[in-house]
Amino acid sequence: MSPKVLSPGVPRHVAIIMDGNGRWARQRGKPRLYGHRAGAESLRAVLRACRDHGVEFLTVYAFSTENWVRPRTEVSGLMSLLRTFLKKDERELHDNQVRLRVTGRIQDLPPAVRAELQRVMEATQAYTQGHLILALSYGGRSEIVDAVRAIAARVQAGELAPEKIDEAVIARHLYLPDVPDPDLMIRTSGELRLSNFLLWELSYAEFYFTETLWPDFREPDFARALAEYARRRRRYGAPS
Ligand code: IPE
Ligand code: IPE
Ligand code: MG
Repeated sequence: MSPKVLSPGVPRHVAIIMDGNGRWARQRGKPRLYGHRAGAESLRAVLRACRDHGVEFLTVYAFSTENWVRPRTEVSGLMSLLRTFLKKDERELHDNQVRLRVTGRIQDLPPAVRAELQRVMEATQAYTQGHLILALSYGGRSEIVDAVRAIAARVQAGELAPEKIDEAVIARHLYLPDVPDPDLMIRTSGELRLSNFLLWELSYAEFYFTETLWPDFREPDFARALAEYARRRRRYGAPS
């Protein structure tokens, strides 16, 4: 077997598109926000499962650049749910030494949400046991646009020659350059698309799709995704 054909074991970084909250609520005749609240419980469960299974990095798609078109009440409901999550779960982040980070256009978020995020990010920045990354006002294309702008500014300032731009330079200008690329991407609710999530970083991730709606996705579902991942063969272009 070629040394490049890796048997993957436990993924170091799992990225999740937490989808299906609205449909879960509709099935119960409840408002969409009821589904989002139940979804926050799934996030808590999956974060604990990461600790128990030895997954170091968890990135969750919580709000996309496209989600701003949703009704104002849903957007503000999601923002206040986020603040509640930060308040309620900060203790658990400390107890488990989990560092909180954000990827996305954080400047687009309401000031109160931003302040709460900054506070918890600073309070947890020294932790290395686990990493929870919230993708907020995140878009894969926006992230690439922002990287290109930063690189162009450096070229214009004479700090960087265009021929020196390579994959490593681009990766260094993304939002979280020190975070390893996800190994496994999970999307719930049966939708088979990326919806603008981590376009650059997912280039070689394994994908796992499930019909389960996000509020129903708990530890056993996560364990199933990890077991499936462990059966995959990551070839990175090498022969099978
Ligand atoms: C995912 O659930 C959560 C967010 C996008 C914030 P949805 O709200 O997209 O739920 P569905 O897809 O409408 O069921
Ligand atoms: C992707 O889900 C974004 C999040 C889960 C936050 P959407 O529900 O917004 O994606 P589409 O509209 O089905 O592509
Ligand atoms: Mg959806």
